[in-house]
Amino acid sequence: MRMYDLIEKKKEGHALSAEEIRWMIRSYTEDRIPDYQMSAMAMAICFVGLDDRETLELTLAMRDSGDCLDLSGISGQTADKHSTGGVGDKTTLVLAPIIAALGVPMAKMSGRGLGHTGGTIDKLECFPGFTTALDRETFIRNVNTVKLAVAAQTANLAPADKKLYALRDVTATVDQMSLIAASIMSKKLASGSDIIVLDVKMGSGAFMKTQKEAVKLAETMVRTGIGAGRRTAAVITDMDEPLGLAVGNSLEVIEAISSLCGRGPEDLMEVVYALGSKILALSGKAESEPQALKMMRECVASGAALRKLAEFVAAQGGDASYVFDTGKFLKAPCKLEVYAPDTGYVESIDARAIGTACMMLGGGRETKDSVIDPAVGICLVKKRGARIRKGDVIAEVHASESKKGAAAVRLVGSAYRIGPEPVEPVPVVKAVIDGVLSDDRYAKTSDWNRKF
Ligand code: URA
Repeated sequence: MRMYDLIEKKKEGHALSAEEIRWMIRSYTEDRIPDYQMSAMAMAICFVGLDDRETLELTLAMRDSGDCLDLSGISGQTADKHSTGGVGDKTTLVLAPIIAALGVPMAKMSGRGLGHTGGTIDKLECFPGFTTALDRETFIRNVNTVKLAVAAQTANLAPADKKLYALRDVTATVDQMSLIAASIMSKKLASGSDIIVLDVKMGSGAFMKTQKEAVKLAETMVRTGIGAGRRTAAVITDMDEPLGLAVGNSLEVIEAISSLCGRGPEDLMEVVYALGSKILALSGKAESEPQALKMMRECVASGAALRKLAEFVAAQGGDASYVFDTGKFLKAPCKLEVYAPDTGYVESIDARAIGTACMMLGGGRETKDSVIDPAVGICLVKKRGARIRKGDVIAEVHASESKKGAAAVRLVGSAYRIGPEPVEPVPVVKAVIDGVLSDDRYAKTSDWNRKF
């Protein structure tokens, strides 16, 4: 087989066979295809696309390029959740203990944050001593005993994706649906869970700017997951403004703990409950969404979910006393306020600008080797729809020094758009993509406008 012929075939609009895709991915991973030819193929895919079969074959080939985690030592159906990345997204920290406390094993492989969105591992490492460097035996044992473990992705998880993603990043070929779906799903499939629930973000702080694009990506990923034999569903959620009130690692952990104490912001809990309903339904723990909601609410109200978080933190070497005394988390020395420039209503808060402000403060990574400051960040005091008067405090900036803090105050202030008219509330959960594992191997989309 020659890569030249495959590029030509794709360029002319033809579908590649499973054998051709497998050969291409194996040869590229083993450095037998040069970057310039793979770039040409990625660009041809951007123009011509991949059909569902090719997308699935590409995903499976990338999954098989490295280690695949064998979770057969875990009793029961394991669940994993993935977010396409958002600002203030601490959903996993709230969702995972609830689901684990309800008896569904959560075996999660996570990454660190890069750019304007934070990573779950960075947040968990705010607990002194917490480690995600678990060997396979410890990971499996913790899932069996605690029902929850989070491990850092191993270097050899889908190495073909690592190589191809780095190439796409510098050749303007990142934003192609099938390539994104294959990239994300190859890592999820290699991580081994039976149930995969995806949180696909849309809006200014997300990869997908519109609902149409987000739904298309979600449907592609759900079909790919189902095609690979996994129970898969997706929820499309708003990322036009940050999720919850806190942005920054320790601040987000404190907000997650407060949510598990029953004081979670409405938008965050809406996302948690939408994803949780899907996991409980796909695992067979709940027969209906109302039943799943009731179970999750009771789990929070009884304190079982909070205790599960403490058990999980301790099992991975962390100091669980922080769960019950959040005053122990490191605090940034400077706290600065952001004031409303006008009287009116908050029309929008640009999530991307808030994420960038957090990164400027040192709360996010500009490169993969950057060291992050867990204490810094932003607390949004007013969110979309709030009525405000000129001079009201709309946000707080937590900084390590006043100069960085002042720059962040300006950026956070400019992220707020204030208008004279009242603003209609918009649901944060926009749509749910349900996978049907039967003869009808197809993903269905439904609206989700229910309020909890
Ligand atoms: N995240 C991934 O892991 N891969 C992509 O292609 C895009 C986002």
